[in-house]
Amino acid sequence: MTGQVVRVEIDPDAAIATVDRRLFGGFVEHMGRGVYGGIVDPEHPTADAAGFRGDVIELVRELGVTTIRYPGGNFVSGFRWEDGVGPVPSRPARLNLAWHSAEPNTFGLDEFTRWLELVGGELMLAVNLGTRGIDAALELLEYANHPGGTALSELRRAHGRDDPYGVRMWCLGNEMDGPWQLGQMTPDEYGRIASRTAKAMRQLDPGLELVACGSSSADMPTFGKWERTVLQHAHDDVDYLSCHAYYEPIDGDLPSFLASGSAMDAFIRDVVAHADAVRDERGSSKTILLSFDEWNVWYQSRVPGTLPAGDDWPVNPPISEDDYTLADAVVVGDLLITLLGHADRVKSASLAQLVNVIAPIAAPAGAPAWRRTTFYPFSLTSRFGRGQSIPVRVASPSIETQQHGSVDAVRAAAVLDEDGVLSVFIVNRSVESAHRVEMSLVGGAGALLEATTLSDRDPWAANTADDPLRVVPAANDTAVLEGGSVRIELPPVSWTLVRVDRRSTISAEGCSL
Ligand code: AHR
Repeated sequence: MTGQVVRVEIDPDAAIATVDRRLFGGFVEHMGRGVYGGIVDPEHPTADAAGFRGDVIELVRELGVTTIRYPGGNFVSGFRWEDGVGPVPSRPARLNLAWHSAEPNTFGLDEFTRWLELVGGELMLAVNLGTRGIDAALELLEYANHPGGTALSELRRAHGRDDPYGVRMWCLGNEMDGPWQLGQMTPDEYGRIASRTAKAMRQLDPGLELVACGSSSADMPTFGKWERTVLQHAHDDVDYLSCHAYYEPIDGDLPSFLASGSAMDAFIRDVVAHADAVRDERGSSKTILLSFDEWNVWYQSRVPGTLPAGDDWPVNPPISEDDYTLADAVVVGDLLITLLGHADRVKSASLAQLVNVIAPIAAPAGAPAWRRTTFYPFSLTSRFGRGQSIPVRVASPSIETQQHGSVDAVRAAAVLDEDGVLSVFIVNRSVESAHRVEMSLVGGAGALLEATTLSDRDPWAANTADDPLRVVPAANDTAVLEGGSVRIELPPVSWTLVRVDRRSTISAEGCSL
């Protein structure tokens, strides 16, 4: 069924903000087969001398993740960083209480930084404010960032790393509002420890960028109160407040699930309002930025009962290795559209996670790594979403959803790069209707460079180990440039990238990657 024509208007000379490269961050946690089996697997045919999987490194590069948050997540609240550095044979095995598994500590900070150099990522490190505090945070900071001449900086050098790691961005704990968290705190308790830890860390290095924990989700009973209270304590000491959000279809309700981007949009607006309210109360001129450092589609409702339990403490149990569907990929694309639309306040974001666990990359033992459906919108948005985020006006028809009320069927974001190429990312969230989009660009457009769509006749179609290429992006041949406007047909439940060169007058026939 073809729906009505949807008019989209873009003025490339207006800008929301420069898109921070950190918006395309990732997240690696010691959880399930994320690290052991995912990043490192000495038995794998593509493993290098360090045991790093070469096939995974290639896909991580292709994915285009920038900053990678490490080592958790919930794991960080029991993290003993010193257990994971130095000669491997003398590292202690520990319990990973967050995920009821065993932590061999054969992979730690030094290995992760070496791996990051291979994939070209920036490290974003988290300190443990669950079972530990200021002292351990300062020691980790000294080990990581101090050039030399002190016990811990010399220890790093003795471990083979002369230059400091120079980690700029640090998370002050993780989800400290959550009852599942080791060392859960009240907002007052956390606000105080976040403020004190931040001040102490800045005594060592004033230039750090520090992230205080926001709520674990917008559904937490303390959401709002948590943000305001934490910032009342720590507003002047931190740069960012974190947001975490995971989405999944509830009872097969596809329209509501496809509207997850609207829920994320409301969440961001609320957090910004809380942060600005505290700023105004304090008469401060400082703007708190957002670090959306955990976001994704996660089939969280499938987790209970799948975790190891009792006396079973395996090293890398498979946890949350769901095969993603087309619908999941469209939601991920829409969440990225939402983040781009808030590029003025959301300066950092981490897709959670990276390999195997809640991940765009599947890395089976003994077999080649492959791309889950969500890989595609992320890699293409990361590749082409660099530049100025441009406001997009969409006169969209509405969709009624059970969870989110009335939402737009078509949503879009646009980014103008420094060469004058405009990339427009568009979703059609309608389950029934294709939509014909008429996209007018103020100032016109010289050439249509590309139109690529991710769609399938079955919204629940998934990439799987047996059929890893079921859902892949394809050229959208309906796209035409006429009189400075682009016309394109968007199938139901689809994600699309359109790229136009504003300046060039060369006509482009081929509309593919
Ligand atoms: O990413 C999985 C988990 O989700 C993280 O460990 C935690 O921070 C969040 O609840």
